[in-house]
Amino acid sequence: MSDDEELQAQGDSVAPVESIDSPDLAEIVRDLSRPQKRLPTRLLYDEEGSRLFERICDTGDYYVTRTELSILRDNLADIAEFAGPGAGVIEPGAGCGCKTRELLSALEDPRWYAPLDIDPSVLWRCRQAMSQALPHLPLAPVCADFTRPWRYARLPLAERRLLFFPGSTIGNFEPPEAQALLRQFHQVTGVGGRMILGVDLRKNAAILRRAYDDSEGITARFNLNLLARLNREHAADFDLSAFEHVAVYDKTRHRIEMHLRSRREQQVSIGGRRFRFATGETIHTESSHKYLPDGMAQLAVGAGWQAWKLWMDPQRRFALMGFEAAR
Ligand code: AVJ
Repeated sequence: MSDDEELQAQGDSVAPVESIDSPDLAEIVRDLSRPQKRLPTRLLYDEEGSRLFERICDTGDYYVTRTELSILRDNLADIAEFAGPGAGVIEPGAGCGCKTRELLSALEDPRWYAPLDIDPSVLWRCRQAMSQALPHLPLAPVCADFTRPWRYARLPLAERRLLFFPGSTIGNFEPPEAQALLRQFHQVTGVGGRMILGVDLRKNAAILRRAYDDSEGITARFNLNLLARLNREHAADFDLSAFEHVAVYDKTRHRIEMHLRSRREQQVSIGGRRFRFATGETIHTESSHKYLPDGMAQLAVGAGWQAWKLWMDPQRRFALMGFEAAR
């Protein structure tokens, strides 16, 4: 059954998708019309979402940020040497750029920092914090969705471009999309460019489930904020108390998924459409793929990168990987 047919079968008024002028709304309607309902992951990151994500990073259960930072700190000189002198640093999905401040402070003669983020408010905070910590470093913040095609034509010269992609953000993409993204990063740095990739590694499912459903309930708020955002920005009528956050680990795909589960049978309107939910039916909002270092290296090599360096914590929970743009 096509998306439109499904809506008709439910007796809703069916306006053509072409008449919806917000690309976000069109995508939302399409995603909610699928047999397994879903929502675009990037929509988790509005001002409230960015703040909640930063709070997740401070929880005891979300080991990711803490572990990555410890790897960065324990290997700072080696990592700075890998980056080389005179680097221009590009960071897709920079957020507040906290980790990057530590990296930039350790680099020899960094030329500029170009953070990209989809949320303008977090980019603003990133810029304030960066100009305080490194007042002489030129900044080129860009508000953009880094999954859409982009390139930097007019950045100042640097000895080389370093693409910094920490946090295991790469894990939020299905492997083929992840590889396409790495290919795009290769285009952005050019041959001879370097990349430092943060990769969350496979581990015990219970640890993962706790990390994505923390005991303080911050991740639940982060996930539910997506519905609040749709209510605010797209005049949807989600009843937030009628949905609950769930984190499930898919063992075969090696990924943790976040869903919003309907607590009861209900209908929700958005964009002039109505969507029915059965009790227990979920909306899939995010996947976080977990890798082995070799698997990620293979993915990157297929995207034109040469595997160069591997830094891990003693428990091997997380990896920072260094690549050079070959070919
Ligand atoms: C955006 C990749 C850093 O997938 O681990 C954290 C987002 N979602 N808790 C991740 C997230 C739920 C996070 N990253």
